[in-house]
Amino acid sequence: VFPDPKKGSAAVAVEIANLIRSKQQQKQSCVLGLATGSTPKSLYAELVRMHKEEGLSFKNVITFNLDEYYPIETDALQSYNRFMKANLFDHVDILPENIHIPNGEIEKEEIKSHCIQYEKKIEAAGGIDLQILGIGTNGHIGFNEPGSGIYSRTRLITLDNSTRIANAYEFANISQVPRLAITMGIGTILRAKKVILLAWGPSKAPVIKQAVEDDDSEHVPASLLQNHDDVTFFVDEAAAAELT
Ligand code: F6R
Repeated sequence: VFPDPKKGSAAVAVEIANLIRSKQQQKQSCVLGLATGSTPKSLYAELVRMHKEEGLSFKNVITFNLDEYYPIETDALQSYNRFMKANLFDHVDILPENIHIPNGEIEKEEIKSHCIQYEKKIEAAGGIDLQILGIGTNGHIGFNEPGSGIYSRTRLITLDNSTRIANAYEFANISQVPRLAITMGIGTILRAKKVILLAWGPSKAPVIKQAVEDDDSEHVPASLLQNHDDVTFFVDEAAAAELT
């Protein structure tokens, strides 16, 4: 539990930087699973600062983003592709061929094979070393809405109305928010070697309590993380307020 999001984000950035550097020393690639949304923005800002001021290189980093709206143009203002470029990729030395984000532009008939390929690419990279997550107020991780199974893999899902409302601020109005998304599954996330979930602010306090202290349940997808043996929640005091 950290006093504020800036301090929590700085601590996560140090973990990521240490992992990247130790993999560099072993001449190995470092595979990161990444999230979008408002929560990781300060984390990415800190990683960019470490790149510019402390020489942290991303040349050995391979990334897989959790999710993308469907359908959406890759360059649309609200696409997670564009978000990642604006907040991280355009400001560090990551190799473009090492960046993976689900494609919101493909034809519907291609989605299934795209999802299978996405899983295969994660495997071919050696699996995800560290998965970064945010959390929805309904407990979603990635876009695995309540009801998502523990063995679910990358797939097309229907966004909850509450998620569309929460994300409407990124669009002109609610009707513009896509109804679908492509997301890694809970099973995909649970295969990562290490998982870090970030949550800031009072709106996340009830779901943080449910995810950490209640029994695990598909009704609160983040609670399924209780089945992983290396998960850490980095939260600020406001998000931790309901923990006993
Ligand atoms: C985004 C993602 C989502 C968000 C969640 C919280 O890639 O996977 O699970 O982490 O919706 O969003 P914010 O951070 O905007 O509160």
